[in-house]
Amino acid sequence: MQNFDVIVLGAGAAGLFAAISAGQRGRRVLLLDHAEEAGKKILISGGGRCNFTNLGCVPERFLSANRQFARSALARYTQHDFIALVQKHRIAFHEKTLGQLFCDGSARQIVAMLLAEAAAAGVALRLGHRITEVSRADAFRVETSHGGFTASSLVLATGGPAIPKLGATDFAHAVARRFGLPVIPPRPALVPLTFAGEDLDLMRPLSGVALDSIARCGGVAFREATLFTHRGLSGPAILQASSYWKPGEPLLLDLLPEQDAAALLRAAKRARPRAEPRTVLAELLPQRLATALAARHLPALRMADLPDRALDSVATLLRGWRLLPAGTEGFAKAEVSAGGVDTAALSSRTMEARKVPGLFAVGEAVDVTGWLGGYNFQWAWSSGWVAGEAA
Ligand code: FDA
Repeated sequence: MQNFDVIVLGAGAAGLFAAISAGQRGRRVLLLDHAEEAGKKILISGGGRCNFTNLGCVPERFLSANRQFARSALARYTQHDFIALVQKHRIAFHEKTLGQLFCDGSARQIVAMLLAEAAAAGVALRLGHRITEVSRADAFRVETSHGGFTASSLVLATGGPAIPKLGATDFAHAVARRFGLPVIPPRPALVPLTFAGEDLDLMRPLSGVALDSIARCGGVAFREATLFTHRGLSGPAILQASSYWKPGEPLLLDLLPEQDAAALLRAAKRARPRAEPRTVLAELLPQRLATALAARHLPALRMADLPDRALDSVATLLRGWRLLPAGTEGFAKAEVSAGGVDTAALSSRTMEARKVPGLFAVGEAVDVTGWLGGYNFQWAWSSGWVAGEAA
């Protein structure tokens, strides 16, 4: 049985950061993971370039049963603190869009930076350790496939169940429950939406078509690209909206943001009465989508044959297509899981369980979920950092 001050379970973004921050305070830290490699999700993130934070990171861009919870950690370790660390390691980066910061080179640079910081802070990193039991007597005790360890502080940083083929598990939730912490049932977020019936019949042949759009759902709106897939819809606008979507609720899709679709269609009818409706729609929308929508909603050979009210009703559809998703593509395709350890059981300043001194939960394991665009990594850095300061 080896003794440490702090044991961190999970060497992903949040666990590495908690270990670094505790190690820098002189704590003897053990960082355990069942995977053979640290930071696997970091490595594949952002298409291999890691969207490591967002310049516009504000608490309002996170979902949680307690919308105020993330405020404290995000203020104590900000996106600017992480950017300064990236600059210290001379990692070149750029803003892609909407404040999203990516490495110019590779996500490997971020993992290498974190491993270097962990080594400098004296963190003992043990990979390939299957955790068989977690208990507490005087201290926390963690049994693994390679022996047992004890510590006065335990940080749960094993993430959520999104993308199980990468080794993701709901282990943190199970351990939290065992210590009496409530868990908000996890659900897939930042995930493609699936459709059925006539909607899917229309969408499936359009697989691969993408366009600028506004997706509205659950009282929020996201202006980004929508992508048709063979199962329904994806693309950043849909992924963002999916985090707010609840089964049975509609999704409203604006395919012509900021355009007066009715005026455009009426003007086209007057200017070119002999034009085919699909040709006119193709001036506003991708060709394949225009052809599919014209076949379904503008069944005429020439614009002149369509009454204005038919044009107006297509315009209404283009500006607010009301769709009823059948579901999501599930944890297998979700970028993150929403839900997790209930924030009501945690201190927002330190991430420590109020009723179990020495027990901390950080990162995706907790019921805080960011928007697409670097927000989830910033939550991992911020929550990990404040836990490491207190563990
Ligand atoms: P994370 O999942 O990273 O780490 C958990 C660690 O615990 C893993 O190392 C795992 O092996 C280990 N573990 C799990 N179960 C265990 C067990 N039972 N025993 C021992 N160890 C266990 N976010 C963002 O901000 N920008 C981006 O560009 C992207 N891109 C992106 C792409 C893809 C494809 C995905 C799936 C996700 C993203 N994300 C993202 C989201 C981001 O990856 C995610 O929010 C963070 O990795 C969460 O960090 P955590 O450390 O909490 O969990």
